[in-house]
Amino acid sequence: MKVLAINGSSRKDGNTADMLNLVLGELAKEGCETEHIQLAGNIIAPCRACFACAGKRNCVFGDDIFQELYRKMTEADAIILGSSTYSADVSSTLKAVIERASVVSDTNPGMFRHKVGGAVAVTRRAGAMNTIDTINHFFLNKEMFVAGSTYWNIAYGRLPGEAIKDEEGVANMKNLGQNIAWLLNQMK
Ligand SMILES: Cc1cc2nc3c(=O)[nH]c(=O)nc-3n(C[C@H](O)[C@H](O)[C@H](O)COP(=O)(O)O)c2cc1C
Repeated sequence: MKVLAINGSSRKDGNTADMLNLVLGELAKEGCETEHIQLAGNIIAPCRACFACAGKRNCVFGDDIFQELYRKMTEADAIILGSSTYSADVSSTLKAVIERASVVSDTNPGMFRHKVGGAVAVTRRAGAMNTIDTINHFFLNKEMFVAGSTYWNIAYGRLPGEAIKDEEGVANMKNLGQNIAWLLNQMK
């Protein structure tokens, strides 16, 4: 089973990366093929609302990495979207991915049907629930099954290396990975 994690943070190898690696680590232990794409350094344009994607099964604009990202999302059995909390929500980079993926899959129905979704957020102090909600709204609008943990999948930290010290956050990420693996095994 293929699992794709997309990391919306603008900081490469920061706290969000550490948390996504924990989730993916559990999935790799269960034999899943995992990939972690960090969006840091990329500018992803917002949806242009042209609806030219209808019948095309991808965005028609190829001037950033979105087309490749979207193809990988549609090939994955599970998609984990992670973001640092920016202004009490996902990063604008991840939001652009969500906007465009939503429109392409609206105009080409069923492309995410029965995939598993997992949401991950990192925050210094507040706003992470919105981050989780924004991601879950995407999954739930696309016929996906959302995996949960023993708490919302949030870890606390500001500087790189801080979130990994959040013991409860770390436990939640590992648990999320195990729950995604369980769900994928049931669905085989
Ligand atoms: C543009 C920007 C906006 C931020 N907004 C918030 C916020 O609303 N709430 C919060 O708790 N932390 C906020 N932070 C802090 C980050 O969420 C925090 O540093 C996080 O650990 C960064 O994760 P990363 O290392 O994966 O980038 C913000 C940071 C930046 C750069």
